[in-house]
Amino acid sequence: MNSQRLALFPITTRLEPGTNGEVMYIGGCDLTELAERYGTPLYLYDQASMDAAVDEYRSALHTYPNHSGITYAGKAFLCVAVAQWAVRRGLWLDCTGAGEISIAVAAGAPRGQILVHGVNKTAGDLRAAVAHAGVIVVDNLSELHHLAEVYTDQDDPFPDLWLRVRPGVAVDTHSYRQTGQDDSKFGMSYTETLEAVRLCHRQGLPLHGLHFHQGSHFHDPEPVGPAVARVLDLMVDLRRDSGWTPGYLCPGGGWGIPYHEDDLPHPSIEDYVRFVARRVEEGCEARDLALPILHLEPGRSLVARAGVALYRVGAVKQTPQRRWLLLDGGMADNIRPALYGARYSALPVADPIRPTAGAAWLAGPYCESGDVLIHELPMPDVAEGELIAVPASGAYHLMMGSNYNGALRPAVVWIRGGKSSLIQRREEIADLIRRDLPLEVE
Ligand code: LLP
Repeated sequence: MNSQRLALFPITTRLEPGTNGEVMYIGGCDLTELAERYGTPLYLYDQASMDAAVDEYRSALHTYPNHSGITYAGKAFLCVAVAQWAVRRGLWLDCTGAGEISIAVAAGAPRGQILVHGVNKTAGDLRAAVAHAGVIVVDNLSELHHLAEVYTDQDDPFPDLWLRVRPGVAVDTHSYRQTGQDDSKFGMSYTETLEAVRLCHRQGLPLHGLHFHQGSHFHDPEPVGPAVARVLDLMVDLRRDSGWTPGYLCPGGGWGIPYHEDDLPHPSIEDYVRFVARRVEEGCEARDLALPILHLEPGRSLVARAGVALYRVGAVKQTPQRRWLLLDGGMADNIRPALYGARYSALPVADPIRPTAGAAWLAGPYCESGDVLIHELPMPDVAEGELIAVPASGAYHLMMGSNYNGALRPAVVWIRGGKSSLIQRREEIADLIRRDLPLEVE
């Protein structure tokens, strides 16, 4: 069981002999030393795991007989260092709004590698997108009208526009993460898309692509089939209606990952990419459509496995019903269990392959009974002061983090070839009151 859990950790995870049994190493770094040097809770990112995921996407995309590309969905985890990594790897960066655009710009991302998303983008978001992006994915007709107002063909350069279509089919995932269904708040209907293309042509807007995204964290690519078919049918209608065929087609991201040993074995990135590429290729052939450039937009499947959260056990508490391991982090750095019922696993850093002593509940320090990171996980006897490592922590943890109960956002460390570098410092108390202004209280 415990050795299966190890398979959830970054690809460079090894057990090395320590003073009291084996100790977990990632990317050649001793996790005990990292916790001492940087403190806990601590987030680690293993570059080799991120690179391997990119390589797997790329080699599977080679089966597609036209050009292809990958956009990294920065909402999974974005900071300057990760944006630099993405740019160096030739990935485009999907930024939601002006805030994420400014992180990409601070990392030196060129216009050609910034793509902007957002449902209900503000005027400020659109200004930042026009100033810095290579592509804006237009969510709705109001946004398109706004862009038409600011567009003049003297403006050079102006981002390419892609239209986000609602394909009417969602993937199988938690309802909070479904986006492709007809009543979703995201994207445009079939008829709205026809209207949007006409508007682009009337105004001479630089329209180049179609986009859809059916939801996040799915394990079965089957529902991508009917969505591709629906969007290719739309392309046939668009060709007839306006003589336009998109040069780019992006079927979004959303491929899932294993979080718990019960999720293993998990179908591979390669299976998913080949499935999508084949559907697009065959669908275009059947409709006599020119093959578009295929862009995929993964977030989680590029970074989640690379990330590990390290916590220290402050106290062990036994109630008649259960054994509690009380950690120094919880829902402020990982809201996913509380928000989606997400199921995680964990191992002690020292001597991780110990026999289990029954189920444990791993809870955070915050004033909420729902602040439980892991429910009912077989765990060995764990003593106060021990380190616990939670795998698959690289996506949608810190980006959804909070300062609840005055929590300080954890430090983030990049790991490569036996070296660690701090890429985000731990928040300090001063950060908590940085935005506050005193009031003359009468
Ligand atoms: N493209 C678009 C337009 C998206 O909205 C998303 C995710 C992605 C790509 C990337 O999806 P991924 O490959 O990372 O699954 N907070 C949730 C996930 C929300 C996903 C939001 N959009 C979670 O923690 O599971």
